[in-house]
Amino acid sequence: MRVRPLVNVLFVCLGNICRSPSAEGWCRHLLADVGLASRIGVDSAGTGSWHIGKPPDPRAQAVMRARGIDISGLRARQVAAVDFLRFDYVLAMDRAVHADLAALCPAEEGHRLALLLDFAAGLEGRDVPDPYYGNERAFERMLDLIDGGVRGLIDHIRLSG
Ligand code: 4NP
Repeated sequence: MRVRPLVNVLFVCLGNICRSPSAEGWCRHLLADVGLASRIGVDSAGTGSWHIGKPPDPRAQAVMRARGIDISGLRARQVAAVDFLRFDYVLAMDRAVHADLAALCPAEEGHRLALLLDFAAGLEGRDVPDPYYGNERAFERMLDLIDGGVRGLIDHIRLSG
């Protein structure tokens, strides 16, 4: 029997091809490490529509593959207001994405919305910068920031569960 997740997390960026699919893959990987993969559901989406149906950017796939994680099967989708009913945590990669999500979020569901780095000690309120126009280092930096946020998020969920 498949166990329904107790908690559902949605990572959101602009295109859903760089930051949020990387966060999805990295979070799933860390959850498997601590035996929580079946208890915490993970997904990702973008505020923009340009890349709907596309796989993650090859550079994001490459930095993830270098850490042993295959995200090639993910496909971009656009976030929708109904996501605020399906996900307990809707986590924006930067403040611009957060502002767009706040405008989409139904009244009284705002408690579900935060920045990913609000869960990274010392980086609260900060952005995971968009690496799309950057070089390989930008993608490495992206993943380091995501790692801090996701680890903090998992600790937070474990302590509040
Ligand atoms: P992401 O990166 O939001 O981390 O997926 C981007 C990907 C594509 C674009 C912007 C950001 N774009 O403008 O096409």
